[in-house]
Amino acid sequence: MTRVIVAGAGGRMGRLLVSIIAREKPFELAGALEAAESGFVGQDAGELAGVGRLGIAVTADYSTLARPDTVTLDFTNAAAALAHLEVAAESGAAMVIGSTGFTPEMEARARRLAARTRTVIAPNMSVGVNVLMKITAEVAKILNNFDAEVLEIHHGTKIDAPSGTALALGRTIAEARGLDFQANAIFGREGITGVREPGKIAVFGLRAGDAVGDHTVFFGGQGERLELTHRAQSREGLARGALRAAAWIEKQPPGLYSMRDVLGL
Ligand SMILES: NC(=O)c1ccc[n+]([C@@H]2O[C@H](COP(=O)([O-])OP(=O)(O)OC[C@H]3O[C@@H](n4cnc5c(N)ncnc54)[C@H](O)[C@@H]3O)[C@@H](O)[C@H]2O)c1
Repeated sequence: MTRVIVAGAGGRMGRLLVSIIAREKPFELAGALEAAESGFVGQDAGELAGVGRLGIAVTADYSTLARPDTVTLDFTNAAAALAHLEVAAESGAAMVIGSTGFTPEMEARARRLAARTRTVIAPNMSVGVNVLMKITAEVAKILNNFDAEVLEIHHGTKIDAPSGTALALGRTIAEARGLDFQANAIFGREGITGVREPGKIAVFGLRAGDAVGDHTVFFGGQGERLELTHRAQSREGLARGALRAAAWIEKQPPGLYSMRDVLGL
């Protein structure tokens, strides 16, 4: 039995996770966290998720929940996830962080903290996207003289751009080619931009309706182009990947892991 705390229990991913945990045997809901100002604190997590009363009241105080026999699934935002990770690193609670929007400084801090407890940080929990990451690295090496760019599409209520997955794909391309991603990334083009410099990697985000999340990596050569696309059709795949990570991280020694470690890719 994996004892799971859902951080962001009133959000889209949080409610879905609570509803799956309520139905699936190897998981038990050990706690539900929300922002103090969210209006969800004090409500029953199951009722909030639409699956009936579970007897777990939503709280805003993580320190009362974080224990070594729990795994926290964090789908909040970068600042909240970092604050939760500070508490987890002190208490020995395991964490699976899905929240995105980390600045490079926040990411460095998260990496330092994560090494002290059992932590998975994954900007995208879906199996298909993680396979896309793996083959993107391979194709970036094979087609090393092709221009590589990344395009993502998400729902209009997403607050960070480009998506964490699109950034991870950009970083994957840069690493495969021995390039510094930050020095070569382009996040917008407008006006007289001049010709494309080799080695640059554009990462662009579109926002449209209720799109769950599409990612395409373009490899453009002379006279041909290869496109690798993943489309999320619902959030279910993301939630199931997060739960797979929770069951896996429980048994690992302290350290920072990725979804590729979880999936053995
Ligand atoms: N890694 C993945 O596979 C994956 C998948 C989907 C979403 N995400 C990311 O997860 C995050 C949440 O996505 P969402 O679509 O569920 O967003 P959402 O806005 O629907 O939910 C976020 C919830 O977090 C709560 N929250 C904010 N601060 C908090 C705090 N300090 N403590 C506890 N709860 C807090 C909010 O009140 C809200 O209910 C985003 O960063 C998103 O990009 C990642």
